Amino acid sequence: MKKRILISLLYLINCFAIFSINAQSTSAQTDAMYRPAIHFTPKQHWMNDPNGMVFHNGIYHLFFQYHPFSSVWGPMHWGHATSKDLVSWEEQPIAIYPDSIGTIFSGSAVVDQRNSSGFGTKGKPALVAIYTQHNMEGEKAGKNNFQNQSIAYSNNDGKTWTKYAGNPVLKNPGITDFRDPKVMWHAGSKKWVMTLATKDKISFYTSANLKQWQFASSFGEQVGAHGGVWECPDLIAFTQNGKTVWALIVNLNPGAPNGGSGTQYFLGNFDGKKFTAMDTATRWLDYGPDNYAGITFSNTGNRKIFLGWMSNWQYATVVPTTTWRSTMTVARTLQLKYVNNKPFLTSMPVEELYKKRIEEKQYAKSDKPFEKFRFKLPGVGGAPYMVDLVASAKANTKLVLNNDLGEQVIIGFDVAANQYYIDRKQAGNVSFEKGFAARHTAPRFSNDPLLKMTLVVDATSVELFADDGLTVMTAIFFPTKPFNDLQGEGTRNNLLSFKYFKLIP
Ligand code: FRU
Repeated sequence: MKKRILISLLYLINCFAIFSINAQSTSAQTDAMYRPAIHFTPKQHWMNDPNGMVFHNGIYHLFFQYHPFSSVWGPMHWGHATSKDLVSWEEQPIAIYPDSIGTIFSGSAVVDQRNSSGFGTKGKPALVAIYTQHNMEGEKAGKNNFQNQSIAYSNNDGKTWTKYAGNPVLKNPGITDFRDPKVMWHAGSKKWVMTLATKDKISFYTSANLKQWQFASSFGEQVGAHGGVWECPDLIAFTQNGKTVWALIVNLNPGAPNGGSGTQYFLGNFDGKKFTAMDTATRWLDYGPDNYAGITFSNTGNRKIFLGWMSNWQYATVVPTTTWRSTMTVARTLQLKYVNNKPFLTSMPVEELYKKRIEEKQYAKSDKPFEKFRFKLPGVGGAPYMVDLVASAKANTKLVLNNDLGEQVIIGFDVAANQYYIDRKQAGNVSFEKGFAARHTAPRFSNDPLLKMTLVVDATSVELFADDGLTVMTAIFFPTKPFNDLQGEGTRNNLLSFKYFKLIP
């Protein structure tokens, strides 16, 4: 009897071991299948917001919110990755670790060209990081001043960082959400300006040396979307024909047009101390569900290069990868454009990504408009590519990414609603969060009779840049088998051209 019990027990243990080995290899396989090729993901563990993005000595630096001990959010560090072309990223050792003041939340980095801080020299300027320190104990104790701003500097191109002995440099006056400093040099007033998210508004501070900060003004209590807390702001200037328009980017969570986290922006004037909006319109940089906490790189001159976290707090911690979690968007060029005299920020993939396009394949052998096409993606699917589709805007158009299991993501234009949409209701693994399986929509602003859709597709994401970046949507998805087939469907022969390009990082 005893022997039989022992044998059964051994059998059960064996089954359990085989089951867990299988589970491990399945999760390793799906993790590998879901890893993108032209988007940044950390090798392991949890990532959220992009931080401290700066161009220095020919290298783009991307720091990021990182939890090195788990694939869910926890005590934040600044992870680090570098790139020469904004497409291929190389992960570097962790840059900034938590200390007794707190963990390291989001922030920015600048090249201190004039050595105003004294951390470098004029010939060899220091990189200075400005970030929020979040004090967990203070938060748990119910205090209201547990977020403060600190600085650190690097004299070796961001490899190692020294924290300033006088941290924190900007103390919290008693505002529970007091974070995500984005610092820039304001040439007009010859001062550093810090744009800081302070709960339901943006506060501006100025400084001559990055160490002492004075409050200047605040903006936004009565303007824009307020469905959630304001986070990760950015302030950038666009100068055209001698006229400068300022854009104030404000991330908020929740309260985005398609639910959860999103990025709104305001246009107006900034005089070195105060931002004045030109109107009360609420504008969105990206209507899709998965572009959050994005800001622009420092030190790129007139080029405004934006990159966001390709996720949404609504489900970020439960998306079905296990050993690593989260991806960044592709880097995008922001421009100020006018449509019917109304100003907009447009986003398009950076020109560096266009240089990775090879093997153009065109549909339509003749010049005739067409109604349908089917395109088998090379290989097993999942590899990155770009699509340019032109169609008449007078009829419905859609592109369907799919596999032989009937899983699909539809990216389309609905002429009656004058809306673009991404429908991921049947995208495969959608059950990890109840709101994930949805059809998201975005208005079309252009009235061009030709509709242009540029798509960037990587293992688990699609980024739609419509009408040269006037309407943008970003969405992630998790098919159980890679999408290896792409179908186009128009109406009344409204499709004019379809081009496919493989992207090689
Ligand atoms: C935005 C955010 C920031 C904060 C960071 C913490 O996603 O909540 O406001 O600094 O994430 O990881």
